[in-house]
Amino acid sequence: MAKIIVDPVTRIEGHLKLEVEIEDNVVVDAWTSGTLWRGMELIMQGRDPRDAEQIMQRICGVCPTAHATAGILALDDAMGIEPPPNGRIIRNLIFGSNYLQSHILHFFHLAALDYVKGPDMAPFKPRYEADYRLPADINAQAVDIYLEALTIRRKAQEMLAIWGGKMPHVQAIVPGGVSEVPNTSKIYKFLAYLEEIQTFIDTKYIPTVKAVAGVYSDWFSIGAGCQNFLCYGGFPQEEGLDHVKKKKFFDSGVYVRGQYKELDIGLITEEVTHSWYADDTGGNTPDVAVVTADAKKKGAYSWIKSPRYNGEAMEVGPLARQWIAKNPDVLALGDKAFSVMGRHFARAIETSQIAKAMKEWALQLQPGQPVCTPHELPKKEVVGVGLCEGSRGALGHWHRISSDGRTMVYNAVVPTTWNSGPRTGSGAATVRGPMEEAIVGTRVADPSNPVELVRIIRSMDPCYGCAIHVMTPNKKTISQFAIN
Ligand code: NI
Repeated sequence: MAKIIVDPVTRIEGHLKLEVEIEDNVVVDAWTSGTLWRGMELIMQGRDPRDAEQIMQRICGVCPTAHATAGILALDDAMGIEPPPNGRIIRNLIFGSNYLQSHILHFFHLAALDYVKGPDMAPFKPRYEADYRLPADINAQAVDIYLEALTIRRKAQEMLAIWGGKMPHVQAIVPGGVSEVPNTSKIYKFLAYLEEIQTFIDTKYIPTVKAVAGVYSDWFSIGAGCQNFLCYGGFPQEEGLDHVKKKKFFDSGVYVRGQYKELDIGLITEEVTHSWYADDTGGNTPDVAVVTADAKKKGAYSWIKSPRYNGEAMEVGPLARQWIAKNPDVLALGDKAFSVMGRHFARAIETSQIAKAMKEWALQLQPGQPVCTPHELPKKEVVGVGLCEGSRGALGHWHRISSDGRTMVYNAVVPTTWNSGPRTGSGAATVRGPMEEAIVGTRVADPSNPVELVRIIRSMDPCYGCAIHVMTPNKKTISQFAIN
């Protein structure tokens, strides 16, 4: 049996190693491995819990607003406070701006070069030699849009900074709301940026995805994965202390084995069967889960834990959100939604949806009204839970605070942990992670050029960065090359 190792996978965020076994050019098993350990949560232990929003958003320079949001929602929850409407809306505008930037980044600058042939020069080379199928004129347009998307992303960041102060690592999100005060000038400036970005999404991004989907329609049948979806819900649309049940732009919910159900966060556990953490830290709910690294653990192959929902592997992200929201355009795809192209399609239409909604939200701001609710740390031990939808999927922060106002346990369960965690169980009871499951069964036409595998990985927009080792059955490296 031959083995392909891609380590690290490129044009994704961070570091992922993929190892697959192939038989007659078909993947029979797959292992995704997070190869870095950061231990961010340990930095929080013993600190003033109000540092969480600033420290935890340093997890990532691409999606810091997601961690700022989850971190602050956990603090709001722990303190039993709720932002006034202006605070809720400005948080949504900050987070939404980052969605637009992140989704455009993902399609054009991470995934598109799997389908769009750039000029034979950097940054378009080196690359896998994919089966480029776009007609020459459409391909040339797509390359132009690739370049225009860089400018649009900068504008999305500038738009975000109107409310967030700066990007990355916003300053304005604080317990109980925000520190930025709305005025008419900021609102109009924001709307002008939004108009230009919305036009790009509707006239460039979505048509490019549709053109790619048209000529790569076979990719609606590749990379199905576990077909279980989880969504915490995101962008609150009303005030209320029940963070799961309050009205949100994205509904919370799960889709398990073909059934839609309400989300019950009590069913979430973190497993470490094949992760480099001590065995006795597995199987716990995130509010008590601790990290004890065990780099020599037998049978482990990843620094990522495996979140499970009632024991099930769950895919998160734009496709999960749109499937749970029963978006008619996504439901109309039927089983073809569970695919590489289904994920790109769901992400693209979601980008337009959010941009449209942000215009309405901005117009709901009320200059002169409060942006923040006063707060104080509780004088007893409390657990705060912050659930939101990052651009890449369901993100939760669990924050246990001691009676003397110090962080005891901090736990971030991130979208890529859901999507790219290792398998759990063993033998017949093995449950592969969603990304592993999506890769198994894939036909790899040329094992020395395994573009199919990275197309599947990139469709899930994981956040982990370039060399590829392709090995023969006797594990001898036959080629090694760098990919952008
Ligand atoms: Ni990230």
